[in-house]
Amino acid sequence: MQLKHAPSRVLMASLLAAPQLASAFYLPGVAPTSYKKDELVPLYVNTIRPVAGSDAMLHSLVSYDYYYPLFQFCRPEGGPQSASESLGSILFGDRIKTSPFELKMAHNETCKTLCEVTYQKGHAMFVNQQIRSGISLNWLVDGLPAGQKIIDEISETEFYNPGFLLGQQFQDSDQVQFNNHYDIIVEYHEVAGSKDQYRVVGVIVQPESRKYTGPVGPDTCNTALDPVILSETGDTKVQFTYSVYWIPSTTAWATRWDKYLHVFDPKIHWFSLVNSAIIVIFLVMTVMSILVRTLKKDIARYNRLDQINLDDLSGTSSALEDGVQEDSGWKLVHGDVFRTPPNPLLLSVFLGNGAQLFVMTGFTIAFALLGFLSPSYRGSLGTFMILLYTVLGFVGGYTSARFYKSLHGEKWKLNIILTPLLVPGIVFATFFLLDLFLWAKQSSGAVPFTTMLVIVLIWFVISVPLSFAGSWLGFRAPAIEPPVRTNQIPRQIPPVTTYLQPIPSMLLVGLLPFGAIFVELYFIMSSIWFSKIYYMFGFLFLCYGLMILTCASVTVLLVYFLLCAENYNWQWRAFLAAGTSAGYIFLNALIYWISKLSMSGFAGSVLYIGYSLLISFLFFILTGSIGFFASWLFVRKIYSSIKID
Ligand SMILES: *[C@@H]1O[C@H](CO)[C@@H](O)[C@H](O)[C@H]1NC(C)=O
Repeated sequence: MQLKHAPSRVLMASLLAAPQLASAFYLPGVAPTSYKKDELVPLYVNTIRPVAGSDAMLHSLVSYDYYYPLFQFCRPEGGPQSASESLGSILFGDRIKTSPFELKMAHNETCKTLCEVTYQKGHAMFVNQQIRSGISLNWLVDGLPAGQKIIDEISETEFYNPGFLLGQQFQDSDQVQFNNHYDIIVEYHEVAGSKDQYRVVGVIVQPESRKYTGPVGPDTCNTALDPVILSETGDTKVQFTYSVYWIPSTTAWATRWDKYLHVFDPKIHWFSLVNSAIIVIFLVMTVMSILVRTLKKDIARYNRLDQINLDDLSGTSSALEDGVQEDSGWKLVHGDVFRTPPNPLLLSVFLGNGAQLFVMTGFTIAFALLGFLSPSYRGSLGTFMILLYTVLGFVGGYTSARFYKSLHGEKWKLNIILTPLLVPGIVFATFFLLDLFLWAKQSSGAVPFTTMLVIVLIWFVISVPLSFAGSWLGFRAPAIEPPVRTNQIPRQIPPVTTYLQPIPSMLLVGLLPFGAIFVELYFIMSSIWFSKIYYMFGFLFLCYGLMILTCASVTVLLVYFLLCAENYNWQWRAFLAAGTSAGYIFLNALIYWISKLSMSGFAGSVLYIGYSLLISFLFFILTGSIGFFASWLFVRKIYSSIKID
């Protein structure tokens, strides 16, 4: 990475360079493969994915299998075979298959013929439509995605962007040309100290549209030809060809991913993050210090009043301060603050799942930061997340049960059952419905039935029993006793001022955690929807920390104000207020939709909204739980530091 020599940016460089470090560990599946000269290097084909069109907007979300019949791409002899893939890789849309291309290590070849295909008008219309909306082919050579070389104009560095276009639009007309020739440029590196051992360190494909008129031989590729236009009124014969060029490179195998992991203007990214971090930390520190000072004063006053009242009783002191003064502030609600909130079952189930999500996210980001989930091991991030969430079912069950018991819940069986089923069930159901949509569209993005089965199996065979075990331990553990007794009769809650009313307070509290992750969210969205490689886990780690900090502190502040206003229904208020940041995430997704995507089909819109809702829902559970746990610790702390007679 271009900044690693600047000493002032050592931290940043180390954050960015994490994947690079990781490749030195040789994880399973990413150990280097060496080839002898002329040895066959397999080229695999992956999903055909929509990318930004010429207007920089995304027009579709429906991806296709490479061998989807309407594309009519050449097949290998005996039909394509599927490569084995990890769970995360399948879930994130990879469908890796064998191909008819023959690449021989360090052996240049020009204009090899693949096959000849006739496009009928129906097929041509489909393909032209796909080219217009922008769609890219994704190939893999030795695990490296075939990319296109792009120059970043700001930093003047070149990098490889995975995928290359199926075709392109003419500059001056509405017609599109279809790419039927591929220049495959493979960079290779001789293993140091060994003879005849070569490794692949870079792959670029330059697609071309070439309308062949005669027989194709090795020299045909030197001549200029007209582009191929698939006719929508008749048949078009298309001959597929490719050339392979092997270029010796000094890039070592361990650093071959660097060119793919390009940060557009890292300086701006870094500065905006540091800016928001400083603002957030400054805000939080200020607010917290004011809160702590106020609380100390409150507690001192309450305890002094207590003393005076005691002295009063024994008749040794004149009552300087009367009871009126004591009847104010958060101490008043001490008999109600630990009263069981409405719907304790749902709250504890959410909290259990929130804890599970919280730990999973933290661990995943930390592992990714250490470089264990580098992009060279396809789908490792997704697989890791799913397995971790499964195993953490134990944490979820325990948290949910322990809280439910402490909230004096009685339907403990329902709690045990709902904890591993409710939230994952909602997620799975949504996912399944969206998948049906993709199935109907014959998109390859649809997760195969067997994978669905595997997920359900993992869920019911590992996660649910672990959650039950956690619940069992949670119910056996002693209930967490509140520091003050709860009165028999609930107090009247006085009406509250405007900003403490549910809706305004939720909107205010939810905004700040969202603000903390806003910048990073943009990059995550573009990596999800524009299938860019995301690897800036250093930034993400900081953002996650900032989000937790803001989420916790603004919710604590809200709870303090609520208690001062003698409103003791803080539990759900804290959860919902913190969870509102998910609403902002959804809103942000809608704005992104309008500004970056221009979906023509109904299916694309449904998918986008569906996935955005799903992500927002999980975020709601996560931030809601963070807000609740912080408030819970806070409330316990302040009520255990005052004396109650
Ligand atoms: C293949 O062709 C390229 C470009 O013409 C050339 O730079 C390279 O050295 C050739 N490689 C081999 C192994 O001949």
